[in-house]
Amino acid sequence: QAAPAPVAPERTHWGGLRDQDRIFTNLYGQHDPFLKGAEARGDWHRTKDLITRGADWIVGEIKKSGLRGRGGAGFPSGLKWSFMPKVSDGRPSYVVVNADESEPGTCKDREIMRHDPHKLVEGCLVAGTAMRARAAYIYIRGEYYNERIALQQAVNEAYAKGYIGKNACGSGMDFDVVVHWGAGAYICGEETALIESLEGKAGKPRLKPPFPANVGLWGCPTTVTNVETVAVAPTILRRGPEWFSGFGRKNNHGTKLFCISGHVNNPVTVEEELGISMRELIEKHAGGVRGGWDNLLAVIPGGSSCPVLPKTVCDNVLMDFDALKEAQSGLGTAAVMVMDKSTDIVDAIARLSYFYKHESCGQCTPCREGSGWLADMMKRMVRGDARVEEIDMLYEVTKQIEGHTICALGDAAAWPVQGLIRHFRGEMEDRIGRASLAAEQIAA
Ligand code: NAI
Ligand code: SF4
Repeated sequence: QAAPAPVAPERTHWGGLRDQDRIFTNLYGQHDPFLKGAEARGDWHRTKDLITRGADWIVGEIKKSGLRGRGGAGFPSGLKWSFMPKVSDGRPSYVVVNADESEPGTCKDREIMRHDPHKLVEGCLVAGTAMRARAAYIYIRGEYYNERIALQQAVNEAYAKGYIGKNACGSGMDFDVVVHWGAGAYICGEETALIESLEGKAGKPRLKPPFPANVGLWGCPTTVTNVETVAVAPTILRRGPEWFSGFGRKNNHGTKLFCISGHVNNPVTVEEELGISMRELIEKHAGGVRGGWDNLLAVIPGGSSCPVLPKTVCDNVLMDFDALKEAQSGLGTAAVMVMDKSTDIVDAIARLSYFYKHESCGQCTPCREGSGWLADMMKRMVRGDARVEEIDMLYEVTKQIEGHTICALGDAAAWPVQGLIRHFRGEMEDRIGRASLAAEQIAA
């Protein structure tokens, strides 16, 4: 596979995000995260006026805003919410908020729940109204102990103030919010595994279709949606879809939380405009690459399942769904993992292969067996204890996994290895060459 050309599409709007255009104004916890502070920041302001305009209006506004799911897949949110039944066949509808944030490198939902939990609780009511749901379940990963305490406090405050519960916000509608704790399995972030887990079963993904909008929690219509997606909805309705769609470029609208980690001077989670260039994002908000931009080796731009990009691509790539897809990677969860030239890139990707092997639920053969093979082969590649032809075999194994599994974990195991071979094949070959030379010298 030839390395893709650097991508630098035209931007329709730029100037950097101004503070007044940030949705999450308490991201760094400088202010009171709870009710008093949240109300002062505008949360719960005339929420009744938003929800009494009805489901179709909310879905229409979200569609107009161009919001795409912030959990990783980037599916258009208004469209997804519109899949929920408009007329009940007797089954209740549910919103399930996916707060099982487990993608390595990702810590954006954590910041929302820690410092701005009322945005999420209000978002549950708004999204729930749009989906004609009677309740929202927030499934939060077990390791997020402080966050679930903060979130539960926000839920309790919202009940006490009459914002949720019976006659929520005086709208005449009843709406409950339940916080449910996960137990630390990565696979429970997959939407159908999450539903199984909520039902009290082992978190094993279901075959789709049927999609949860038809058969979800307890067999009822359900939409599983990410924390950030839900939390931005009230602000989009208040400020208008045109305001939100004014950021970014065609099909890639709005602001977005980016988590920047690794070899940068100032690791950070920051809200920026979609479509900001990767270099600008890292230099403006994370203090730049350790040792300067020229010391950059590679970046994983969207969490561990997105293929790694070498510096030549990073020099020009924009941080949005389409630009990163064109660059043969993805925006994913917008977890930007920066690696400087001190990184052993083969070892770094081998570590991810081990992670996916460990987290596979074992339900389907290509993922169960294939992720094990990838991990074992990558371990040998790190040592150079392999033949050069095995690099092609490794690639072939990823192709046998990709697209042949029940859920996206199989793809997620395959893609990082594909990215490594695409861009760092030379490094893998050199390593094999050096190891066999050393073996020959020892034998001689
Ligand atoms: P997907 O593309 O299969 O689905 C996206 C959403 O759209 C789902 O809710 C699905 O039900 C809905 N959908 C898609 N087609 C539909 C249809 N025809 N009818 C009704 N609904 C439909 O992607 P998936 O598997 O939900 O997510 C994969 C992504 O998750 C990866 O790209 C990865 O970046 C991300 N991820 C995020 C993690 C995190 O910690 N936030 C952890 C692991 C992965
Ligand atoms: Fe389980 Fe992997 Fe199959 Fe997903 S792809 S259902 S994690 S075995």
